[in-house]
Amino acid sequence: MDIRFDFSLVLGKNLRSGDGLTTRELRKGLRRAEKAALAVARRHAGGEIGFPDLPFLERETRRLSRDAAKIRKRFTHMLLLGIGGSALGTKAVLEGIGGSGARKGLALTVSDNVDPDAFFPLLRSHPMKTTVVVAISKSGGTAETNEQLALSIDALKKANGRSWKEHLILITDPSMGAFRRMAQEEGIASYPIPPNVGGRFSVLSPVGLFPLAAAGVSAEKLLQGARGMENLFRRRKPENNPVLFASAVYAHYLLANPKPVQVWMTYGQGLERVAEWWQQLWAESLGKLRPDGRPVGQTPARAVGVTDQHSQVQLYQDGPPDKIYTFIKWRKGNLAMPGGKALRDLFEAEFEGTIGALWNAGRPIVRIEIGARDEAHIGAFLHFWEWVTAVVGESAGINPFDQPGVEEGKKITRALMGEKGASALRERFLRKMKSRAPAEIRIRGND
Ligand code: PA5
Repeated sequence: MDIRFDFSLVLGKNLRSGDGLTTRELRKGLRRAEKAALAVARRHAGGEIGFPDLPFLERETRRLSRDAAKIRKRFTHMLLLGIGGSALGTKAVLEGIGGSGARKGLALTVSDNVDPDAFFPLLRSHPMKTTVVVAISKSGGTAETNEQLALSIDALKKANGRSWKEHLILITDPSMGAFRRMAQEEGIASYPIPPNVGGRFSVLSPVGLFPLAAAGVSAEKLLQGARGMENLFRRRKPENNPVLFASAVYAHYLLANPKPVQVWMTYGQGLERVAEWWQQLWAESLGKLRPDGRPVGQTPARAVGVTDQHSQVQLYQDGPPDKIYTFIKWRKGNLAMPGGKALRDLFEAEFEGTIGALWNAGRPIVRIEIGARDEAHIGAFLHFWEWVTAVVGESAGINPFDQPGVEEGKKITRALMGEKGASALRERFLRKMKSRAPAEIRIRGND
């Protein structure tokens, strides 16, 4: 495995702006990270948290890969329905390795929106006779996924008549929720999501592994990479441990010298989808109320190098010093094309040049180079971030594994859609909307 983490540009020794960590702050940060990691490890040992186990589920994964191989023989397309943690990990890995078609497997499309202008054309573009629909929802109670599933079942029935069920797979909680009930009552094939693995930490469970394996991605190698990261994290001393070092640095910019924004500036195709996955992980895990009622969190922002150098970098350079930057790139790019070397040299120079300019402006920067664009490296990288998020959350004294705010929105949406037993909530919400002071401006016709 070859991933290089460079934290030199967050060190006070190298940053003249005063925004870097002093030696003392770093030492303190490493101690805090170590303590927080132990606290997470205790929750893991108690069975409350399951993501650290996923890289070791090799037998289950081999079985899942065998099933995926059979699916590849029967279908040409897979339509994945899901949202948030049930979709973003698959998108990240798929685009990370080069997109659907980069490996020999089903053409995989992820649908994570209910915008009818996008969903219906997508559904119509699928040959339903040779499409398998995979609906993923841990809770089985997410309005968006439920609605997409209902519409997809209609389309499957139309195309396949009574054999529609053979075109459907559900990935959900092993015992609870509407998806599990449906799988049991209708006899639909399904895979369980470990109960102690939440959506945004579930890419290395069947949530990500099954659809990715069906698309030809090696689930085993994804796990192998994550396993390497997990073992290294457990073994290494804090100063030489990428998870603990990164956790110390990011917790510093969350708590001690708070930067409200973290920008991921990615250089390399597919990395923007990885950034999207991280965005949810970081936002939903760390944007919380502390036990004493004070809010904490850091807005995760994405920028694409080199494109956004001509859009965002002016702000980064001269705007408010309210951000920490993480620059990420594939270390080796494509040199095989004619002219590839010249273009790669330019791309590399842009990466270095932008870091250099932000350094001159005194901005704190973490730099990560991923050795290869393959399953093992991506598996290791995603697992790294899951651990960093968990440790930083624990350092902040919040629970990085829940999402009460998301649940609140889900509840109101379901009530507005007429859910049984939710009429009081619906009435209360509509009354509140009606009673708000108006401030609406409309433009009509030839105004
Ligand atoms: O990370 C999370 O827990 C959430 O983002 C969920 O993944 C998302 O809300 C979808 O939930 P579900 O899988 O229950 O449909």
